[in-house]
Amino acid sequence: MNFYILTLFPEMVMHGLNTSIIGRASAAGLLHLEAVDIRAYSANKHHKVDDYPYGGGAGMLMQAQPVYDAWQSVVSKIGKKPRCVYVTPQGRTFRQEDAKAFAEESDLILLCGHYEGIDERALEEIATDYISIGDYVLTGGELPAMVLVDAISRMVPGVLTNQESGSAESFEGSLLEYPQYSRPEEWHGKKVPDVLLSGHHKNIAAWRREQSLQRTFERRPDLLEKAELSEYEKQWLEEKKMAGHEKQ
Ligand code: ADE
Repeated sequence: MNFYILTLFPEMVMHGLNTSIIGRASAAGLLHLEAVDIRAYSANKHHKVDDYPYGGGAGMLMQAQPVYDAWQSVVSKIGKKPRCVYVTPQGRTFRQEDAKAFAEESDLILLCGHYEGIDERALEEIATDYISIGDYVLTGGELPAMVLVDAISRMVPGVLTNQESGSAESFEGSLLEYPQYSRPEEWHGKKVPDVLLSGHHKNIAAWRREQSLQRTFERRPDLLEKAELSEYEKQWLEEKKMAGHEKQ
């Protein structure tokens, strides 16, 4: 999969993504990561890329021309118009299912804004998706773009080894992952739960499922509305909720 990240800070993006699993996958040719320096496309002799907003207000805006031309350079080079994601707090919130869906694309452009944002006219012409990584405001789109590249890349076949791509991940089936333990069997006086040492696969699976439910109930109850639960599990949850209400 090919990622083109349009940014004023290409080194930040490339440094951040050339390590660990994503770095390994791009060295192996499974991913192609390219940061496109928007400033290099400024038609201004001082390489200026920002200006005051019409109508007044705080801060500066990224101008349409360099953003559009940086995008056009990618489109001309690859001979197609891939989806172009503008990362912005004004977008819909990014979720695991989006990561999976974007991983089906062969090419993706990510557009990072800075200052107070980007001239709306450029966005109208190039942005196909508006995505936020959460309800808080960052100083620029680079970290969100890196978050997207990471989450999408690990859904691209071959990027994770079999070892790394556990099927029981958080958000699978709308539940959080169960707790995990490694050696030693006892640490700081805490023992690994007996069932995990039992070798009894059915019991282990049942214990993990219950832990997933319990954890999701405690930490992210909002996820449970969409979770695929058995009748028995639904009843278990109702009892938990009732117990919670009685405590209050
Ligand atoms: N740019 C600034 N804040 C952001 C956020 N929360 N999500 C995506 N892009 C952003």
